[in-house]
Amino acid sequence: MLQVVSLPDYTEPAQRLAQVLACDYEPVRVHRFPDGESQVCVPPEPASHVVICQSLDRPNDKLIELLLAIQTFRQAGVKRISLVAPYLCYMRQDKAFHPGEAISQQIVGHFLADLIDDLITVDAHLHRINTLQQAIPLDNAINLSAASALGEFLVQQQIHPLLLGPDSESQQWVKQVASVGDFDWAVASKQRISDIDVHITLPTIEFQNRVVVLVDDVISSGHTLAETAQQIQAAGAAKACCLVTHALFAEGAINLLHHAGIEDIWSSDSIPHETNVTQLAGMLGDGLRDLLEN
Ligand code: R5P
Repeated sequence: MLQVVSLPDYTEPAQRLAQVLACDYEPVRVHRFPDGESQVCVPPEPASHVVICQSLDRPNDKLIELLLAIQTFRQAGVKRISLVAPYLCYMRQDKAFHPGEAISQQIVGHFLADLIDDLITVDAHLHRINTLQQAIPLDNAINLSAASALGEFLVQQQIHPLLLGPDSESQQWVKQVASVGDFDWAVASKQRISDIDVHITLPTIEFQNRVVVLVDDVISSGHTLAETAQQIQAAGAAKACCLVTHALFAEGAINLLHHAGIEDIWSSDSIPHETNVTQLAGMLGDGLRDLLEN
């Protein structure tokens, strides 16, 4: 028997996944004490196989709450725990750039792999590694992509855009989104100076009078796409929009993007946000079914 659960901030996407899987949804309840500790309460009679559907944005509280919930499920006799985390945290730091720096991708990856039996995520930030298993040492770890769903959304807009990724890493997503609508595409190059200072160099292509959709995996501070948007407008673009899988949006990011001239901001529901235009539940349900059947 299968049961989908989530922490309180992920109720709606988790309920949609339960609907796709035709099983029950139950909340994991969380009380945050004034000093910042969390009290976690799992459903009293869990199924033998629990699917935790929970994106791990704002991860520092959620990782602890996940640990408390999973250990409590195990104590209650749950045999199999699948984590469906459309946004997977701590994937960016895959290397120590300075002596003493924690390689958080490996540390958090091993932490999760020790707790769960299966993992499904979406557009994980794999930079200097090729497979999700290198970050999460688990046989059943699958990285799906929202690119097709985002591409289908763009086709419906009927704007015949030029797609532009801000850096070489974004090429994988830009190419996939472009293939859905046979859109023109290109990628810029990026030099990151600090969290809020990035330099973008545009490719030598024609932007004049084009509707340009900037495509990336995440928007965090917004500086990458804001800088790219300013440059394409200076190069004559008629309109700038952006399309991303993960709507992380640190404080002030949306304003920054609008001030940079980005008119429409679109994202998948991997992280619930007012910019969500496409739902991933169907794809996640198919991915989980495939994983369980094989
Ligand atoms: C980096 O390689 C990622 O793909 C994104 O481009 C980046 O994380 C976006 O961050 P921000 O919005 O803070 O510039």
